[in-house]
Amino acid sequence: MKFSSFIHFARFGVETILFKKKSPILGTVILTDKCNLKCRHCSVNNITAVVHPYTQIRREMQQLYDMGIRILFFCGGETFLWRDGEKTLRDLVIDAKAMGFLIVNVVTNGTFPLDLPEADLILLSLDGDRERHNAVRGDTYDTIMGNIKNATSDNICFYMAINQINKDAVRDVCALARDTENVRAVSFNFHTPYPDTRELALSKEEKAACCGVIAEMMDAGAPVFDLKSAFPYLIENSFPTPCHQCVVMENGKLSTCGRCIEVPGLCGECGYFFVAEYTLLFRGNIKVIFEMLRTYLRYI
Ligand SMILES: C[S@@+](CC[C@H](N)C(=O)[O-])C[C@H]1O[C@@H](n2cnc3c(N)ncnc32)[C@H](O)[C@@H]1O
Ligand code: SF4
Ligand code: SF4
Repeated sequence: MKFSSFIHFARFGVETILFKKKSPILGTVILTDKCNLKCRHCSVNNITAVVHPYTQIRREMQQLYDMGIRILFFCGGETFLWRDGEKTLRDLVIDAKAMGFLIVNVVTNGTFPLDLPEADLILLSLDGDRERHNAVRGDTYDTIMGNIKNATSDNICFYMAINQINKDAVRDVCALARDTENVRAVSFNFHTPYPDTRELALSKEEKAACCGVIAEMMDAGAPVFDLKSAFPYLIENSFPTPCHQCVVMENGKLSTCGRCIEVPGLCGECGYFFVAEYTLLFRGNIKVIFEMLRTYLRYI
């Protein structure tokens, strides 16, 4: 991370904590909900299958920038399915950087060739070892591993949603993040139980066991892009929700925190690590502040 970006974020953090501000800093643009997969745990794919046009996405990016957002995520659906004429996902990343976003990340299922050197991080969903990943995501593991090997940059971070199918594969994914070329780290979430996937949710005890494994792997040097200090709150679901510093833009509609804010009762069962980490950070949790500084400076 550039020093000037660090200063910007530090100032935003101090002002947010001191004056209890609710301005956002992190925004996600949903490029499309179209997807080539139909993962067992996912409730947001192919609802409309519309690929939003370039001019609309540019307008949404500008709106987020004008609101003060400086960390931008592109998400879907499958982000690599996005194109408009000659324009591709890579053009959007380059545009976002030129527009002034300080961190630009892309979330993908990794089934398409990975050529996004301008992105700060490519969050690539990997949901376990071959067997358990394929049980969640269809027969995609080998394709993804091939794409990682041939990636044009080393900015990949695994992104694992832990659920009933893959809860025993956390160690495998930590080890793979440590041992795979082009992969910088792994970041986790717990399954967030939308009404149609409630059976995949983890109990408190299961979440505690997973956090134990992640912490053990972190202590052993595995590159984990998460904060140990947020684990107790994630296990108990005792972090404040929603996150006012995060917004999502989908087809012109702006939501605080996530699209899921509209699902009644879901925030109380939220499994997204970034929500716990950001809300605790901006409430001034000292342990989280220091661990976040260390973690972000290491991986971005
Ligand atoms: C909706 S996908 C979109 C981007 C891309 N298609 C992918 O799979 O990475 C974004 C991330 O959300 C995760 N996800 C989907 N449903 C979830 C849920 N109910 N709880 C937690 N994470 C979930 C996916 O595993 C993926 O890592
Ligand atoms: S690849 Fe992503 S958007 Fe597609 S079904 Fe899986 S989690 Fe959902
Ligand atoms: S806190 Fe609520 S809106 Fe935010 S990600 Fe979690 S479930 Fe979605």
